[in-house]
Amino acid sequence: MKMKKWIAAGATALISAALLNVMPASAGNWTKPSEQTLRALGERHRLYIGTAVDMAALNDANDPQYRALVGSEFSTVTAENVMKWESLEPTRGTYNWGPADQLIDFARQNRQLVRGHVLVWQNQLPSWLTSGVANGTIGTEELRGLLRNHITNVVTHFKGKIWQWDVVNEAVSDPWDSPPAIHLKGFWAQQLGAGYIADAFRWARAADSKALLFYNDYNIEAFGARDSSDKTQFVYDMVKQLRDNRVPIDGVGSQGHLGTQYGNYDAFAVADALNQFSSLGLATAFTEVDARSQMTAGVQAGDSNEINPRVQASAFNYSVLLQACLSNRHCLSFTVWGFTDKHSWVPTWFTNPPEGLATLYDENYQPKKAYQTVKADLVYAGAPHVLPRIPQSPRR
Ligand code: XIL
Repeated sequence: MKMKKWIAAGATALISAALLNVMPASAGNWTKPSEQTLRALGERHRLYIGTAVDMAALNDANDPQYRALVGSEFSTVTAENVMKWESLEPTRGTYNWGPADQLIDFARQNRQLVRGHVLVWQNQLPSWLTSGVANGTIGTEELRGLLRNHITNVVTHFKGKIWQWDVVNEAVSDPWDSPPAIHLKGFWAQQLGAGYIADAFRWARAADSKALLFYNDYNIEAFGARDSSDKTQFVYDMVKQLRDNRVPIDGVGSQGHLGTQYGNYDAFAVADALNQFSSLGLATAFTEVDARSQMTAGVQAGDSNEINPRVQASAFNYSVLLQACLSNRHCLSFTVWGFTDKHSWVPTWFTNPPEGLATLYDENYQPKKAYQTVKADLVYAGAPHVLPRIPQSPRR
């Protein structure tokens, strides 16, 4: 009996120590805030800190730091590519769940929540689908059925394992597109008309009643002129209409791909956008944050006069988005699109001019200014302006 009590007391002490370890410095703990992980520091705000995960890097035995940091620093993960349609169904009718299931297992082992990315998007579609539509062998009704089946199959396969689904991604044009008035763009709107968006959310909800269903897009961090050239306004009107029509949408994901060559935003303008989305009854999230810079000749030559301002501007842009998210009690997660310059989509995607330096860690896994800034924001935020998140219930 005595022995049992003693063991129980020991276990309680251990649990308290473990809890203390994730508490802020003000709670009297012994781990300096600067030495705590992002996920631990996010917990005080009930904010999940996430990253996109490149499965090749996660499985690379010669790159153990990648796997270690995904597990230790983050409390939510997103598949960078392996849940996209071309990865899941490369051949019509044959699903390849392996890599995505592997990520789900990794997340469970590391007590992480999973953002599902992505159900409906005009990019990274399997070629059998796009060529079938192009050569007329797949007609409109069949295409609608294929989309419905895809959503149903994928959401059902991962049922109970996905926290937030990006149901529809990047459906809205940008002011530099033609025509400049913001409109629905891309393959699905062209083939199926505007109604595919409401359909997609309804089909996803029918397959999983508990996952939070998000509309996800870039360039919606803040409102602009609030006219027909304002993408954020267009998305706001669109999700408001979906809500009014009782479509089961639960959140808006703001991707947060920024570049230091642009003017970008201040935290108040970004907070205002999040607040307007959440005042519709929606959760919000930053889903793909990075802040890239042009790799000028000077940057590439290692000229600190050119590198330092970019490194600091990048950190500032992370901070603007994170502070806004912290201030909005419905902003559930802050996910970066890759955490190291060693594995970032930026250098392969933005090549003319070349861009890079977009993430929290450099190519050798050394934390950059952006990492310390994100950390400091998590440490120094609190009441009255930053309060814990309010969980979102899925809409029926
Ligand atoms: C990117 C991936 O990071 C790349 O590896 C891939 O080649 C292309 O797609 N918005 C999104 C993401 O919603 O899915 C994109 O991911 C980046 C832009």
